Amino acid sequence: MIPKLSDTNKFIADRIHRVPPSGLHRFFGIAASMPQVISLGVGEPDFPTPPPITQAAYHAIYEKPIGYTANSGLMELREGIAKHLTDLYEVSYDPKNEILVTVGVSEGFKCVFQALCNPGDEIIVPSPCFVAYEPEIIFADGVPVPVICDAKHDFEPQAADIRAAVTERTKAVFLGFPNNPTGAVLTRENAIEIVKIAEEHDLLIISDEIYDRLNYGSDHLCVPALPGARGRTILMGGFSKDYAMTGWRVGYICAVPELLEAFSKIHQYAVMSAPTISQFAALAALEIGEPFVQDMKAEYDRRRKLVVSTLNDIGLDCFEPRGAFYAFPSIRRTGLTSDEFSERLLVEQEVAVISGTSFGVGGTGHVRVAYCKSYEQIEIALERIGKFVASL
Ligand SMILES: Cc1ncc(COP(=O)(O)O)c(C=O)c1O
Repeated sequence: MIPKLSDTNKFIADRIHRVPPSGLHRFFGIAASMPQVISLGVGEPDFPTPPPITQAAYHAIYEKPIGYTANSGLMELREGIAKHLTDLYEVSYDPKNEILVTVGVSEGFKCVFQALCNPGDEIIVPSPCFVAYEPEIIFADGVPVPVICDAKHDFEPQAADIRAAVTERTKAVFLGFPNNPTGAVLTRENAIEIVKIAEEHDLLIISDEIYDRLNYGSDHLCVPALPGARGRTILMGGFSKDYAMTGWRVGYICAVPELLEAFSKIHQYAVMSAPTISQFAALAALEIGEPFVQDMKAEYDRRRKLVVSTLNDIGLDCFEPRGAFYAFPSIRRTGLTSDEFSERLLVEQEVAVISGTSFGVGGTGHVRVAYCKSYEQIEIALERIGKFVASL
């Protein structure tokens, strides 16, 4: 007989209990069991990885040594990332000691928060935000301090609110723009104000710019390129979204050498190096991926226009997102909560959207609509959403 543990909970660390279970798994479980469902839930490109990138990886398997790479990643890839950032944003990082290639941006969070947080250290996080930010801060024994981003301010964090949230325990201000789940981008004036606050209080800025290439109508604002920002900014970027490479698991962190060394310590003991084949694919993405990025972006933009105008016509007020591939309409007029709206829409019309509360307190009264489906599927989904709202 297998001996049973008396109380498994007592073995599990408190920090794990401090993170509530994600409701998303249950929701996606239900959605997966419904054959006619159209999911606008998952934030993952519906495009395949561009074939020449996959082919480059295929050739690498046969032609290159597929051992561990240097802990910080293939030198050619770090050089490619450095060139890419200089070409696009005129911000320069030394590939030798200022760039760390990670297992997606996700692993980057672990390296950064664990290296920065002593128990009780606070990180200011605009809310709503990507689901992993707050849990990863808590797993590192830090304290996420949400600052609400409101639709009336185009979902941008207001400098005054950030200033008001700073305490003696604040270590960093986290920014994630273009934003998941709202699609908001940062405006230059606002970002400059936030950098000033960081300078005044000697804080770090952590900037997750994984959606940097997916912006519509304005150029991406790269935070470390702002005056005075580079030295105190930890830039995080990746290949999952811009290049449709979620499964390859490659991201990167750029920062001054002293900080990067601390992140590298966690990285080298946790994973040694990011997957080697994927690093060759990421290098190919930088070298030959641009036309594919532009094509995907044009198609996302077409869908974005359809989604925003149709949701507004249906009566769900929808702010115009300028980045990523999400729309974040208000569902307050329906009288339902965000959870009720998404659950009933799923059951009654077989369309999956995510309740805004999954993205933190700032998401209350909204749902996230990911337009990572074909234009035709999105048209059908929007028609069903219209029927659902009309039936209330
Ligand atoms: C804002 C944001 N950051 C990071 C990630 C994680 O990306 P990766 O696939 O590089 O781990 C996601 C994934 O959805 C995201 O939306």
